[in-house]
Amino acid sequence: MAVNTRTPLIAGNWKMNLDHLQAVAFVQKLHWTLKDAKHDGGSVEVALFPPFTDLRTVQTLLDADKIPFALGAQDISSHDSGAYTGEVSGAFLAKLDNRYVIIGHSERREYHAETDEVVAAKVQAALKHGLAPVICVGETLEQREESGPTAVSVAQLEVALEGVPSNADIVVAYEPVWAIGTGQVASPEQAQEVCAALRGVITDKLGEDAAARTRVLYGGSVKAANIASFMREPDVDGALVGGASLVVDEFAAIIRYQKHVGV
Ligand code: 13P
Repeated sequence: MAVNTRTPLIAGNWKMNLDHLQAVAFVQKLHWTLKDAKHDGGSVEVALFPPFTDLRTVQTLLDADKIPFALGAQDISSHDSGAYTGEVSGAFLAKLDNRYVIIGHSERREYHAETDEVVAAKVQAALKHGLAPVICVGETLEQREESGPTAVSVAQLEVALEGVPSNADIVVAYEPVWAIGTGQVASPEQAQEVCAALRGVITDKLGEDAAARTRVLYGGSVKAANIASFMREPDVDGALVGGASLVVDEFAAIIRYQKHVGV
């Protein structure tokens, strides 16, 4: 088996929380907390996904204080510009130094009727503008009972990767719907099983190099108390964190998971 050289990615999806003033206080506090703990910033990549209205403020702060967190948006328009009221284009996000964009989160699939085809179009838009899509997939409890643990996520990722070049910079996040915001966390073995299947899809669609390079994250009720158990799994390369990414000490402890397990 190829050596795993993937840099772990701990990503905080703020969802619709923290306005731009709260965002400044949060990012400063997180930075100080990690600095005090002598987090070297090199062994784990940290990415923050604030609401659109915070992106400019957070970008300015990261830049001014040389804070080594990557920035990402929570959604993107599949269009470049024009009469699409309320939409935000990849061109605008790229200008604000966003490196990532979350695409196909289950909350967008459920509340905004985003289909696999819309997700695929958004992935193309992200890549066109030099943004790395964080492609979210995951099954509901009913789907897991009906078709098993991997089928839905595999099918969603297959469509999302349609037409994606093999050298594309992408991230995949497995977020079982039943584990999001519920406290009902998947077991590390359950996460590993689906993340391994997703890496198989990357191999099939983009080749072995892409599969060896691409980070596959787990998301759903990740906390400081359980992060290390996920990170021990060979195909889990990080976490997409919701609620716990809004609490400075908790999120800092998740980022510093290596400290707690002594790896
Ligand atoms: P929670 O960590 O709050 O379960 O949310 C997970 C999530 O949806 C991250 O995108």
